[in-house]
Amino acid sequence: MNIVLVGMQWGDEGKGKVIDILSRKVDYIVRYQGGNNAGHTVVVGKQQYIFHLIPSGILHPGKICCIGNGVVIDPGVLLGELNDLRNNGIDFSRRFKVSTLAHLIMPYHKNLDQLRERRRKNKIGTTGRGIGPCYADKINRCGIRMIDLLNPGLFKDKLKDNLKEKNEIFKKVYQHPGFSFQKIYAEYLGYGKLFAPYICNTAALLNKAVRDKKDILLEGAQGTFLDIDFGTYPFVTSSSTISGGSCIGTGISPDKINKIIGVCKAYTTRVGEGPFPTEFAAEFGKIMRDKGNEFGATTGRPRRCGWFDAVIAKESVMLNGISELAIMKMDVLDGLDKVKICTSYKYKGKIFREFPGDLTVLSKAAPVYKQMPGWPNQRNKPRSFKQLHPNARAYLLELQKLLGVKITMVSVGSARKDTIFI
Ligand code: IMP
Repeated sequence: MNIVLVGMQWGDEGKGKVIDILSRKVDYIVRYQGGNNAGHTVVVGKQQYIFHLIPSGILHPGKICCIGNGVVIDPGVLLGELNDLRNNGIDFSRRFKVSTLAHLIMPYHKNLDQLRERRRKNKIGTTGRGIGPCYADKINRCGIRMIDLLNPGLFKDKLKDNLKEKNEIFKKVYQHPGFSFQKIYAEYLGYGKLFAPYICNTAALLNKAVRDKKDILLEGAQGTFLDIDFGTYPFVTSSSTISGGSCIGTGISPDKINKIIGVCKAYTTRVGEGPFPTEFAAEFGKIMRDKGNEFGATTGRPRRCGWFDAVIAKESVMLNGISELAIMKMDVLDGLDKVKICTSYKYKGKIFREFPGDLTVLSKAAPVYKQMPGWPNQRNKPRSFKQLHPNARAYLLELQKLLGVKITMVSVGSARKDTIFI
């Protein structure tokens, strides 16, 4: 069984917890897009791990974890994660694989990301990790890939070519001194030596796994509305975050995907700039942010919070071909006298039941809500759908009806046991 897991909102849906649960049941776990703009924290006993690149499944013995060709890699961050694992006695030597074709984030990508953002009138709210400029070089056909680090002559030519153009831009446009060839060359060749045992043709490896009837989990980073094509452009990330991206980012063909699990919060959050129709007013937003501990795992930035938006979630079901839903952080809504679900938008007297392609509509539209009775704080964590308060059950059934997809998992707390399987 090959499963794709995607975020249905603007990222931070709680995918990490579902990935952790599913990782135990599969043989291979693969990242297919994004880079170290993503991040999740896993606690094992007293030890805390923060992963930005390596699938957290690496903590489960025997699981093979891959970084696919669609991911952009900051080698310093990858090395840090590998060192952390090694220092904690986790043997990954035969279980960690990284694609020859994955593109590398270079020092100039990070600077360019930050310099561009500073000059933008409409800021995107980028994490500043060099993700966008690295993907831009990939599309411009001047990117540097993992495999290049194993060929010093080729790497030298590519880096020289890049620096010739980029240093001129840095100096003339940004009044930045530019970058030294020698320093980057030496540093990155060093990474190449360290990563050599893990660099391989992951597409071939994964397709063999498919033929051998192994189970594969393809884990998406970020969320559907940060997708470069279908998201709230330009306030998006630079990769294909939707389920289709899993094929492009791994080399597994679409006919091999058996199930697509969509993960969304029982409400909505967003980090960075961009339209967010159901965003709470400031005061209530702060209460909910504190209650849900809505601060970014990568940058620590406070997340914007709002009611569940069924318009975007329905669009997400369509774009991703969602076959099952996991609803996360349901407990954060405990203790409210009423809860709301946005079922359409109203703009200039017109009702939009579908996601409007025009960002102006999305930015200015008023959400139309279905209001439902809330439920009290639960003294004991519910362990089954039946044990949920009847109003909470009604809320979930309403989401299921609006989205037309079955909910198979509801999370009511951060611990693994606080998960209801339906
Ligand atoms: P970038 O991908 O770092 O350039 O950021 C572009 C936009 O995507 C910004 O609004 C970020 O806040 C957002 N973003 C990137 N990665 C994540 C994530 O993992 N979770 C939530 N938002 C993200």
